Amino acid sequence: MNLQGKKIILGICGSIAAYKSAELCRLFVKSGAEVKVIMTTSAGDFISPLTLSTLSGYEVFTSVHDGSNWSGHVELGLWADVLVIAPITANTIAHFANGLCDTMLDAVYLSAKCTVLFAPAMDLDMWIHPSTKSNVEKLISFGNVLIPVEHGELASGLVGFGRMAEPAHILDFVIAHFNKHLDLSGKNILITAGPTHEKLDPVRFIGNSSTGKMGLALVRECLERGASVELVLGPVTEKIFTHPNLSVTNIMSADDMMKACAVHFQNADIAIMAAAVADYRPITEESQKIKKSDDEISLKLVKTTDIAASLGAIKQPGQVLVGFALETENELEYAEKKRIKKNFDLIILNSMNDKGAGIGTSTNKVTIIGSEGIILATQLLPKSEIAKIIVDETIKHI
Ligand code: CTP
Repeated sequence: MNLQGKKIILGICGSIAAYKSAELCRLFVKSGAEVKVIMTTSAGDFISPLTLSTLSGYEVFTSVHDGSNWSGHVELGLWADVLVIAPITANTIAHFANGLCDTMLDAVYLSAKCTVLFAPAMDLDMWIHPSTKSNVEKLISFGNVLIPVEHGELASGLVGFGRMAEPAHILDFVIAHFNKHLDLSGKNILITAGPTHEKLDPVRFIGNSSTGKMGLALVRECLERGASVELVLGPVTEKIFTHPNLSVTNIMSADDMMKACAVHFQNADIAIMAAAVADYRPITEESQKIKKSDDEISLKLVKTTDIAASLGAIKQPGQVLVGFALETENELEYAEKKRIKKNFDLIILNSMNDKGAGIGTSTNKVTIIGSEGIILATQLLPKSEIAKIIVDETIKHI
């Protein structure tokens, strides 16, 4: 009963995803919340008010008045502890962004004093349209909280971002809101992720098998807690989600990554160095493909810049720097040496000796080390859970 005693207004707009709102309403009620539902007229084309009134136990509001009775949008707006609009359409987002008011939901939105969480649902092209982007950014700038769209099959048959978050995820978001887990709101976070590719010639490179999964899990966790994230990302095949508070710089080499980090570190409150950066690059990059010749050839390599150490050297008081260490032997000793050398506040140790942990897996097992020594050692967990633990520890160092 995580929402015991909470008062929720559930706004529903006209989208095919509206059928999921019934499940969401049920989850809220099951979690102990009192739920009142407002539907736009077009929402009624997708789901019946009777379903929602039965699930919530309250009459469903659809218009500001019914000719003779006033619905009391101001009272309703003041009654709620939180206003959750799921699904919200591009049309209603545009209304909210511009203060338009021709539905009961618009009127309650403008009257509400509580936090507004909104879970968009639309087709992928609508979602990435500059108009939608700009309207969503406006809503966020008003202090409303975006529940990010999810990736998958859309009503049009296309596959991409635009699906409304699953009801269970929306429930988590609302619970997190009440648990004040938007604890990174207003913080700028720089995250590096993925491998780097150091080119030998136009078709070959030196790289590693990092997939960027750990870094991307950290990105998602920070965004869910209200941060703005600058992601500097090496070449990965992993799908990258979109979020109005996420900006991505795609890079290839350690040198490119260094340049991007140098720009973004200045404004960062926290930097998390999750990338697997190549330590060496070929001394020259051939302009033409290297032709097969002798039985043996030698490659001359030079060190790349140590990005983490460079940032550690210019770290200002108040900035928190978190690094990773991937080790195969003397793990704790090497990790602690790296922490000191690179001026990390925290170092996250991955051991290649732990099955299911490290590069390429969906799970990880880490030991977090700070100046006070080992802070904690996790079990093998999904990377999303590891990201939560890392962010929790990082926040303690702000
Ligand atoms: N790192 C970096 N730039 C580099 C090398 C590493 O920013 N050129 C960062 C990684 O993102 C990680 C930390 O430094 O957060 C440690 O990386 P790791 O590869 O374990 O350590 P190295 O310093 O490269 O040492 P070694 O490979 O000898 O263990």
